[in-house]
Amino acid sequence: MKFKVNSYHFKLLRDYERLSAFKEAIEDYAIRNDANSNGSNSKVAFDLGCGSGVLSYFASEYMDRIIAIELNNSTYQLAKENLKEFDKIQVFNDDILGFDFSKLNEKADLIICEMLDTALIDEEEVPVLNRARKFLNENGEIIPKGMINSVEAVFMNNHFIQYEDDEYSPVYVSLGESVVYSEFDFMNDIDCNFSAEIELKIYGNEELDDIGFEVNLNEERYEKFNFKENFNIEEDKLKINGIKVTSFTKMNDNIICGPTPMLNPAMLVPIEETEVRCGDTLRLRLEYVMGGGVETIRTEILEIIHKD
Ligand SMILES: C[S@@+](CC[C@H](N)C(=O)[O-])C[C@H]1O[C@@H](n2cnc3c(N)ncnc32)[C@H](O)[C@@H]1O
Repeated sequence: MKFKVNSYHFKLLRDYERLSAFKEAIEDYAIRNDANSNGSNSKVAFDLGCGSGVLSYFASEYMDRIIAIELNNSTYQLAKENLKEFDKIQVFNDDILGFDFSKLNEKADLIICEMLDTALIDEEEVPVLNRARKFLNENGEIIPKGMINSVEAVFMNNHFIQYEDDEYSPVYVSLGESVVYSEFDFMNDIDCNFSAEIELKIYGNEELDDIGFEVNLNEERYEKFNFKENFNIEEDKLKINGIKVTSFTKMNDNIICGPTPMLNPAMLVPIEETEVRCGDTLRLRLEYVMGGGVETIRTEILEIIHKD
């Protein structure tokens, strides 16, 4: 099957890991629910934010009817063209946040919604699912099923929000282990306003030795940013100026997909530059609005707890 796409959707289709995670999760749903597309166990799917239509195409093998909705008009035109041979797929050009699901006169057995973004901040996955979930049949399922978010302290080259995506590799050093700070199940109604107090442990001397921290700083890419000037391990002085947020997508109970270039690439967020010592713990408040965009991200250092 050939898809007509624009450059953004081309990149989404080229991300093989992202596509295979969704394909596998749809197949897994079909096997568990005996969905077979021969009408004996009739099933309806909604593909929300259908883009090029690729996920509707995957689902068409198993589902009897698919409602695909896309906001962007030129993308909708591409999806309509790509899916024109599939009578069972109906494509709408609409904003899901205003879409009248009741006019469909049927609910979904499966909702597929790839409007994901790191920590669910910059795309409308959460508000869209909060609306669409009411139109999911009892025993219905959502792909993906949820998300797990983790964060770690870093020192980064630029003091603005950066993604580790397929176009850009921000330069940073990790200064502590990643901790899970939130987990969402998309079957539940989710408050879009997120706020958490997080404790970030800074590596101790031994841990820095174990990861070869000082040796790694000799790499050329770090020299360009004078990273070494900010660290004096002998005097027990480190600096942090950011956090790295990593999201893991729970496709279903069995499949968890880590960041890929086009599926929730890790995000670096600047925080107030602060001197710390090896083994310290940083208490940080992190707030944002899911679906509200990265401009809603707020961070505040609440306390630095010294190791002794
Ligand atoms: C990350 S892309 C995924 C596209 C496709 N499902 C795929 O997996 O390749 C998200 C799509 O959702 C669409 N979208 C974003 N907000 C939307 C909304 N409120 N209503 C309908 N579509 C929306 C975007 O235009 C975009 O095409």
